[in-house]
Amino acid sequence: MPSPSRSPGESRVRLLPTETPFPVHVTPDRPTAERAVACEIAELVRSKSRTVLGFATGSTMCGVYAELVRLVREEGLDLSGVVAFNLDEYLGIPAADPRSFRSFMRHALFDYVNVPEDAIHIPDPELARFDPAGYGLRYEETIRAAGGLDLQLLGLGRNAHIAFNEPGSAADSRTRVVELDDVTRRVAESNGTAGFAVGSAPTRAVTMGIATILEARRLRVLAFGEEKAQAVAATVFGPRTADVPASLLQGHADVEVWVDTAAAAGLAPGVGES
Ligand code: GLP
Repeated sequence: MPSPSRSPGESRVRLLPTETPFPVHVTPDRPTAERAVACEIAELVRSKSRTVLGFATGSTMCGVYAELVRLVREEGLDLSGVVAFNLDEYLGIPAADPRSFRSFMRHALFDYVNVPEDAIHIPDPELARFDPAGYGLRYEETIRAAGGLDLQLLGLGRNAHIAFNEPGSAADSRTRVVELDDVTRRVAESNGTAGFAVGSAPTRAVTMGIATILEARRLRVLAFGEEKAQAVAATVFGPRTADVPASLLQGHADVEVWVDTAAAAGLAPGVGES
């Protein structure tokens, strides 16, 4: 649980009072959640000489990364001891393409902070395409050799996917090449952040598996907006099932979910209303 002193905005956070499988923080707006999560990351980084962080892409993460950049620029946060691993990447999109997750991470974070270049790991779609099994094993081994993920950030797909673990992904799945769900492709084609024209979203990706993600010591899930409300409700209250990949996070020892009022709409009447 976060301490009340963690973030200036956190006094406005409401915790669900009841029997959720993990803490769910409902905030009146996105920035409150973004600042709180960035602040937790900063505290973790300051407490260790080396921190292994798992990063996620997607519009959900933009505010968290903007806050990390601010902490580096204005409050002297030093990310030189961070080892970074990203969750996933599209296959068939060149690294330099603005729609690649590598480009996203550069523009959202890595170009503005001092994570060492050789400590940034983003799944390589070309290597994954030519040797999917071997590449998956090597990515996992690199994470293990770094000491394992101290904290993994996660967004939610509308179908409750985490990374690119689409519905049907097994709890023991590992880093691998996957086929993308139609829902995911349609969202990528209608969402300004992803930038794909209709019919042009990639069909495959390389992604950490559910088991890989569950090995992270802390998991922090963020979801904003009414379009995520159903996925959030299924993640928190639904049965633990591969049909709802994020529900497989239930049972992890240290997972916390941060949602705004709109994304909390399916949790309980009145939750998040101040
Ligand atoms: C992609 C990523 C996910 C991310 C999701 C949500 O599918 N693979 O890791 O959680 O997008 O995107 P957004 O934050 O734009 O809603």
